[in-house]
Amino acid sequence: MKKILLTGGCGYIGSHTIVDLIENGFDVISIDNNSRSTTQLLEGVEKITGKKVKNYKVDLCVFDDTNAVFEENPDIIGVIHFAAYKAVGESVEKPLMYFENNLGSLINLLKCVSSFRVPYFVFSSSCTVYGNPDHIPVTEETPTKQAESPYGYTKQMGEQIISEFAKASGTKSILLRYFNPAGAHPSNLIGEMPLGKPQNLVPVITQSAIGKLPGITVFGDKYDTRDGSCVRDFIHVCDLAHAHTLALQYLLDEKLAGVTDIFNLGTGSGITVLEAIKTFEAVSGVATNYKIGDNRPGDVIAIYANNDKARNVLGWNPQYSLEDIMKTAWRWEQHLLTDEKLFNGKNITLN
Ligand code: WQD
Repeated sequence: MKKILLTGGCGYIGSHTIVDLIENGFDVISIDNNSRSTTQLLEGVEKITGKKVKNYKVDLCVFDDTNAVFEENPDIIGVIHFAAYKAVGESVEKPLMYFENNLGSLINLLKCVSSFRVPYFVFSSSCTVYGNPDHIPVTEETPTKQAESPYGYTKQMGEQIISEFAKASGTKSILLRYFNPAGAHPSNLIGEMPLGKPQNLVPVITQSAIGKLPGITVFGDKYDTRDGSCVRDFIHVCDLAHAHTLALQYLLDEKLAGVTDIFNLGTGSGITVLEAIKTFEAVSGVATNYKIGDNRPGDVIAIYANNDKARNVLGWNPQYSLEDIMKTAWRWEQHLLTDEKLFNGKNITLN
């Protein structure tokens, strides 16, 4: 079996990617220190795939512990690196925590990739590397600009570190620039599980709708966009997950000409924050009663992807719509409520 080490396997995108990898014939192990996750999603992965995935509860910032995982698994042929802090707003408040964690863990991981001669590496990057782009949609050739947040800096520097490492080591690497991941697996057995108050828009919408949050604040509606709110490219987490399997297979098939390549993973359509909220309301039948607040520091005003390269080179073809995103996210939120048996007395019809 082709064994893949996936970091952050207990997390949102990591767990969905494990499902897709297993369904495509890969054997997967995970490293996740559960600082921002629990093992609940891996239990969901086992229910979906019938496979129990081993998670090493290791902090990638501790080199010896990370190295020990590679010593125990010398047959790793590829690494997919998700584990990182990823909240734009939080990174503005705590920059050093973001630089230490996101870059320290990456460097330790690459040291092991080098010493154990792992041939293939896939990196979870982000559209935040583009900063506030002058033109949208962005292609992979769009120049990266000054990041708008320390989170964005860690992704820009991460890409540079990997590119230089690949040149020196010969490990072939693919950088995947995610746009806005959202939604949940159609089985409703795995989905987004923010620990504490969510930062991202879609879990804020679903938690507000189910009564776990008091309501939604739209961070600004006076931007130079069609309705004044920010523009984003919401990509279903299952489409995103499958792109990782395709990227890995592309590397395994030795189709990568150089040592590093980059792909945008977005749907190619830009949706405003207000349009996303209205789509949720239409899909769920639940009024959200959002309010307008101040702009959020670090926010990019408008960005969405030109995804031609991933379509043409990787054969990637996103299947899920914005309605699917909102429908699966809402079902998952309802599942979490019944699962946690938390009921706050609000009349919610669970469908
Ligand atoms: C989206 C829009 C907010 C919450 C995300 C991830 C980051 C990276 C890029 C993958 C913004 C607005 C949000 C709220 C709001 N993904 N918003 N009220 O900042 O685009 O970054 O995608 O690597 O990891 O965080 O996502 O969901 O936080 O914000 O108005 O309560 O929704 O202002 O315009 P963002 P987000």
